[in-house]
Amino acid sequence: MKVIGIQSSPNTDGLTSMLATAVLDGAESKGVETALVHLNQLDIKSCEAHNLDGRGWGTCRTKGTCMITDDFQKLRSMINEADALVFSTPVYFGDISESAKNFLDRLRRCERSSPDSPLTGKSVIGIASAGGSGGGAVNALHNLETYLRRLKLTIFDLVPVTQKTKTHKLDMLRVAGQRLASEES
Ligand SMILES: Cc1cc2nc3c(=O)[nH]c(=O)nc-3n(C[C@H](O)[C@H](O)[C@H](O)COP(=O)(O)O)c2cc1C
Repeated sequence: MKVIGIQSSPNTDGLTSMLATAVLDGAESKGVETALVHLNQLDIKSCEAHNLDGRGWGTCRTKGTCMITDDFQKLRSMINEADALVFSTPVYFGDISESAKNFLDRLRRCERSSPDSPLTGKSVIGIASAGGSGGGAVNALHNLETYLRRLKLTIFDLVPVTQKTKTHKLDMLRVAGQRLASEES
């Protein structure tokens, strides 16, 4: 079994990354293989909304593939091969981060025409990592949830975290990682 964590903060050692790592540590303690992807270190461009059919669709509609060649394809393969996922985003302006949007915008287009997608039913933990105010954390998490459900992933948990709550949420996420590993294997 393999659990992949994706964290979409430019800080590789910030809170967003720590939260994803907590889940992966929990899963590893149950003997599961894990990997953490720092989304901002990959070259994943924003969707160009190709218009092959005059209706705003490119090959994402006809073939389930993206017309831009960059690290998107590599990351898509990684998550297709994983058994469970963790997606951790910082809260920016009450929303998910730019790199999260870039990746998820392209993935949901490609997955739209994949009725037998390998993502279907795969468990995911979504995390929104906010600052001191925590303002917009729930909205960011709601937006993340909308993407994850559109991808037909199964929500295992959705966790908003602020500077005030991070200590107990880190503990909780380690337990969530253990349970994810136990229930999926
Ligand atoms: C551009 C930008 C916008 C932000 N907007 C919010 C916000 O709306 N609400 C909030 O609570 N924190 C906001 N923050 C703070 C980050 O969400 C917070 O610092 C987060 O935990 C960063 O995670 P990191 O340590 O992984 O970088 C913002 C930070 C940046 C850089």
